[in-house]
Amino acid sequence: MKKAIIVGATSGIGKNLAKILLNNNYKVGITGRRLSILNEMKKKYDNCFISCFDITNFDKVEDELDNLSKQLGGLDLLVICAGINYDKDYKNKSDLRFDLEKKIIDTNISGFVCVSNWAFNYFKKQKYGHLLGISSISGIRGNKQIPSYSASKAFQINYLEALRQKSSIYKKIIITDIRPGFVNTKMAKNKQFWKSSVKTAANQIFVAIKNKKQIEYITKRWFIIALILKSLPWRIYDLLRKK
Ligand SMILES: NC(=O)c1ccc[n+]([C@@H]2O[C@H](COP(=O)([O-])OP(=O)(O)OC[C@H]3O[C@@H](n4cnc5c(N)ncnc54)[C@H](OP(=O)(O)O)[C@@H]3O)[C@@H](O)[C@H]2O)c1
Repeated sequence: MKKAIIVGATSGIGKNLAKILLNNNYKVGITGRRLSILNEMKKKYDNCFISCFDITNFDKVEDELDNLSKQLGGLDLLVICAGINYDKDYKNKSDLRFDLEKKIIDTNISGFVCVSNWAFNYFKKQKYGHLLGISSISGIRGNKQIPSYSASKAFQINYLEALRQKSSIYKKIIITDIRPGFVNTKMAKNKQFWKSSVKTAANQIFVAIKNKKQIEYITKRWFIIALILKSLPWRIYDLLRKK
């Protein structure tokens, strides 16, 4: 049985991916802050192990992941799904509030780095393993409506690329960057454009895992949007964003 940990598997993409792995003969360790949901999953699947922790409690992350990997009896794959965007707190879109910006930075940047460092070092020691992060199409350019979120996703894209370079001497360490457009979870509830179902997204991620992909857009047509966004001169991009 392959062994995987999904950090942030109590809802959305992570929970759906966990179900796919659990039904495909993986032993899976799932994490999140909501213990009741973790317990529900554990009750349903014999091959499911749980750990309840917040990735912004940086002092606890390593111990929690050490314990979970021991319970699994090893580790082949670690997926980082944990991430947040602004919630309803941001009533006035012209506001800029450091408390809300920091919350996103703590989770999507510092928490992400903390978990990915643990995984990278674990895989480096055993000389194989697969680390998969879920960034976003939002990381391609800055976005005035979600400044810290778009910047944090740009960070994740670059960080995963750097880890891929770092791991190139270890032929059997794979680093995957999944870049979704809109997926029908709580996070994208107000979005209508090219929104994929969470099941489709999780299935595509599973295929990307099996094919050891380095970068994958979810759904694939978001690749075209990414290309356009990347190549737009900033003056034109700014003009479009002024609306
Ligand atoms: N949905 C989209 O359209 C979309 C598009 C592009 C990228 N993404 C990215 O995909 C990833 C998953 O998003 P989703 O749509 O599936 O959202 P979601 O349903 O809100 O799931 C987020 C997961 O992250 C966990 N989490 C959040 N903060 C955490 C923390 N501090 N410590 C530990 N776990 C934490 C949550 O668990 P608890 O609440 O139990 O802690 C939950 O399991 C995110 O990184 C998101 O940015 C989503």
